[in-house]
Amino acid sequence: MTQSRTAIVTGAARGIGAAIAVRLAQDGFAVGVVDLDESSCTETIAAITSAGGRAIAVGADVSSSADVEAAVRRVTEELGAPTVLVNNAGITRDNLLFKMSDEDWDAVMGVHLRGSFLMSRAVQAHQTEAGWGRVVNLSSVSALGNRGQANYSTAKAGLQGFTKTLAVELGKFGVTANAIAPGFIESEMTAATAERVGVPYEDFKKGAAEQIPVRRVGQPSDIAATVSFLVSEEAGFISGQVIYIAGGPRD
Ligand SMILES: NC(=O)c1ccc[n+]([C@@H]2O[C@H](COP(=O)([O-])OP(=O)(O)OC[C@H]3O[C@@H](n4cnc5c(N)ncnc54)[C@H](O)[C@@H]3O)[C@@H](O)[C@H]2O)c1
Repeated sequence: MTQSRTAIVTGAARGIGAAIAVRLAQDGFAVGVVDLDESSCTETIAAITSAGGRAIAVGADVSSSADVEAAVRRVTEELGAPTVLVNNAGITRDNLLFKMSDEDWDAVMGVHLRGSFLMSRAVQAHQTEAGWGRVVNLSSVSALGNRGQANYSTAKAGLQGFTKTLAVELGKFGVTANAIAPGFIESEMTAATAERVGVPYEDFKKGAAEQIPVRRVGQPSDIAATVSFLVSEEAGFISGQVIYIAGGPRD
């Protein structure tokens, strides 16, 4: 990188988002670490700054346009205009269709779809001004359909359409947009799923690994490495793609 660039990673207090934020800081980006609660970002910020990187914690609910506007403004003022955006914040509210409540549906759409829309709309102003930018959205293999996840799989499939449209609209401004669709990644999200179905997490991971061609579950660093590539200069001709990172083919 010729000059320092600023990236925003949402849902970066823990899990996949934290690994992405740390990796982008290693790559030389100043990083806006966004999560619901500013104080929950302490560990991610410490990991970055103790290694000599630059980062700030920003508390924001990505489904709130007021929060998003304020978060992007703060990052711009304190770190510089953001030109890289990783829409990673996510929640699950799993239930079979007949038991899924209106709130379960709306909450998942709010974080994944509305959140990614609001963040992307706010950040594109800086990207188009700079004539350069990268957006990476977190989809999922669940986009292909997954029992108990009518809300989540719809949101993750929706993010693929959103990604392709960003690629079409923003390409002429030097902005690429791609989606990553992870399979099973070790994180608090999959630990919570194991708890919900009543299986010890170690057994749950072992069972998942047996179904995965490379015979292991994924790690947050597997996703962070791909984000690192997609936001790099040399990935500038890759746009509107969905990359499944699942230890095997899943689409
Ligand atoms: N873990 C997996 O196996 C897996 C697989 C496919 C896709 N994904 C996706 O990857 C992303 C990260 O997943 P993870 O496993 O690290 O999850 P996680 O639950 O460990 O972390 C998600 C983070 O997002 C934050 N967040 C939730 N709602 C938010 C909001 N409204 N505003 C701001 N931040 C919010 C949470 O506080 C949390 O820190 C999610 O989009 C998830 O859907 C995960």
